[in-house]
Amino acid sequence: MAETLTARVENALIKVINRRTGIDVVHGEQIVDVATSTEGRVRITLELSAGDDPTLARDVRQGVEGVEGVTDVRVEVKRASGVADARSAGVPIGAPAAAIAAAPRRVPLPMMPEPAAAPKPTPAPTPVAFPALGKIIAISSGKGGVGKSTVTVNIATALAKAGKHVGLLDADIYGPDIPRMMGVMVAPPVENEKIVPPEAHGVKLMSLGFMIERDQPAIWRGPIVMKIINQFLRDVKWGRLDYLFVDMPPGTGDAQLSLVQAAHLAGAVIVTTPQEVAVGDALRGAKMFERVGVPILGVVENMSWYEMPDGSKLPIFGSGGGARLALELGVPLLGEIPLYQPVREGGDSGTPIVIGAPDSPAARAMAAVAETLDR
Ligand SMILES: Nc1ncnc2c1ncn2[C@@H]1O[C@H](COP(=O)(O)OP(=O)(O)O)[C@@H](O)[C@H]1O
Ligand SMILES: [Mg+2]
Repeated sequence: MAETLTARVENALIKVINRRTGIDVVHGEQIVDVATSTEGRVRITLELSAGDDPTLARDVRQGVEGVEGVTDVRVEVKRASGVADARSAGVPIGAPAAAIAAAPRRVPLPMMPEPAAAPKPTPAPTPVAFPALGKIIAISSGKGGVGKSTVTVNIATALAKAGKHVGLLDADIYGPDIPRMMGVMVAPPVENEKIVPPEAHGVKLMSLGFMIERDQPAIWRGPIVMKIINQFLRDVKWGRLDYLFVDMPPGTGDAQLSLVQAAHLAGAVIVTTPQEVAVGDALRGAKMFERVGVPILGVVENMSWYEMPDGSKLPIFGSGGGARLALELGVPLLGEIPLYQPVREGGDSGTPIVIGAPDSPAARAMAAVAETLDR
């Protein structure tokens, strides 16, 4: 099976030590990507820095050749160029809101593609394994406004708080809200041809929002979205992660398919509100993942109720939708999150509720979802 072959290859790579640094090639972030085929062919891209002994490529090949199920190993060597980028002179990460507002116009990063090429049908590429990125989990919803991004930032922040290495990739071309919700609004610097992801609340971030102006229409489609997502997976200096959460655009569009085709996903989490129409959309979205073999890890119901001053629960958006959807998909209901005004305020001010009011029922519900995913 490709999945287990990938894991075996990763285990073998961890044993290959770069003699110059004394660090293995995985933790030294020298493995750019690994692709495996069902026939046991393995393609590895290895990044060599100036002082590295080129025989490291041979060591990598030999280390992987002996792995059970591997029939052929090819190692491609990429040179790290060491070019620094002046764009890093922006506002420091975590700067107060006033400084962010005064930040210079964000400069599009150099690898931003021209949105000119007409989309042509591309054959589905073999998903690539990114061993350093840990479990890649997509957070998806059938429609916008159900709290997908809010749930994503809170799950990611809760896991980072629990000591995990967490990355967050904002792939929502229609509403890249993650930078605002995490309080980071500055173009990330580029070092050695890699984008350095800003860190907020212990989470490393990369977002389409860093690359587009707020009022710029989402004109990227098909292959272009694919290209950006691939660049986000390959050219961002994520370091070694336990989890990479991906905030998907709503629905079953190109970005979903692109991501699914670009990387081995550990699974998808579906966010919905309790009402019928949201659930119907979510079901269609979930089916897309099932069709392409990505497991649905569970359903999160958001805005489940409003807590009245007397402690009773007012089901503003109906009730039971999350449970019905979970039942229909045969997956667990991971949590029900109440509607709570500070959740929205935290999103607007860049402080997720699990940081801002960790003892509130909404924050506890978010943290509980994160905990279930971490099992
Ligand atoms: N549980 C909640 N309580 C209060 N406001 C919420 C809650 N979840 C989301 N919101 C707010 O609802 C709006 C939509 O949420 P968002 O996460 O942007 O949705 P999506 O990513 O699905 O489009 C945001 O203003 C957000 O702050
Ligand atoms: Mg969103």
